[in-house]
Amino acid sequence: MSQKPANTDLPSQREVLNALSPFVTELTQRHLDSRKLWMPSDLLPAHEQTDAEHDADMQKLRERARGLPDSVRVAVALNLLTEEGLPHFHRLIAIYMGYEGAWATWNNMWTAEEDRHGCILRDYVRDARIFDMRALEQLQYEYIEAGFNPQWQDDPYRLLAYTSLQEKATQTAHANAGRIAGQYDPLLQRILAHISADESRHYAFYRDAFAEVLKQDSNRALAALAAVAPALAMPGHTIAGYAQMSEVERRAGIYGPREYLKLVEDLVRHWTIDKLTGLSSVGRAAQDKLMQLPTRLARIAEYVESKAHTRSFSFDFIYQRAFEMAVGTR
Ligand SMILES: [Fe+2]
Ligand SMILES: [Fe+2]
Repeated sequence: MSQKPANTDLPSQREVLNALSPFVTELTQRHLDSRKLWMPSDLLPAHEQTDAEHDADMQKLRERARGLPDSVRVAVALNLLTEEGLPHFHRLIAIYMGYEGAWATWNNMWTAEEDRHGCILRDYVRDARIFDMRALEQLQYEYIEAGFNPQWQDDPYRLLAYTSLQEKATQTAHANAGRIAGQYDPLLQRILAHISADESRHYAFYRDAFAEVLKQDSNRALAALAAVAPALAMPGHTIAGYAQMSEVERRAGIYGPREYLKLVEDLVRHWTIDKLTGLSSVGRAAQDKLMQLPTRLARIAEYVESKAHTRSFSFDFIYQRAFEMAVGTR
């Protein structure tokens, strides 16, 4: 990983990150102090002994869930799949940040937290009976089987840039899906709010860790961010139906290029990318690219929106029911 650059006195990226260990331990502690650890069964109880009250609650849950529009179901499926990509991300963080030390401690704790997200969403969709479960499971299988090897060129800074953006993206997608789902089932909104609150704290960790890297190793950090931020590849983006599911989420106003643009703008501002000085030519080129990125992303969002016309979708996991969506409709 991250070989020492030839003919320079620069430490490798991995050495810079290892030197940040005390800071990472601090950020991890801040995270632990601010979280309230919940378990999936706090939100969706499952006792050995069920009683009439529990059965009645399940019945009511299914009745409420029956009202969920297909577009919202698709968003829940996509959010669930994204969470179930956890093996890919745990592996990548372990490879890039190591198996021991402060980063590994964070990775293991983070993985334990993330694992609950896939669990609770799966518990919900199963209890609520909103999918053809076998079709969904088949998709999840393909998503994991597809593997995920992003082009990060052995650069752990790219991983950190990616996770900063990705945590904010998932936070946004869960929060927006929850806001819409709440009109039909407040329990689903509560579940998505719990997940989204976790993602906010994860985001704060990666954002602040990367801020420190930007301070200590500006040129290479900027270059890594400029390589990753123009487009976030997702595991399984090539599997059948993935692009259509993303399109449904975009049309529902849950997550798409607009939301990505906003989070990139927020991060560029938060990291005060424009104020970094004393850069090399590589660092300056990356800084320029990043400062122009919001305009570029806005053009992409406009282009995608300009092509939007009413379109019909159907997915195996909702029994191939066809439904139509214009933009901004549910
Ligand atoms: Fe998550
Ligand atoms: Fe997260």
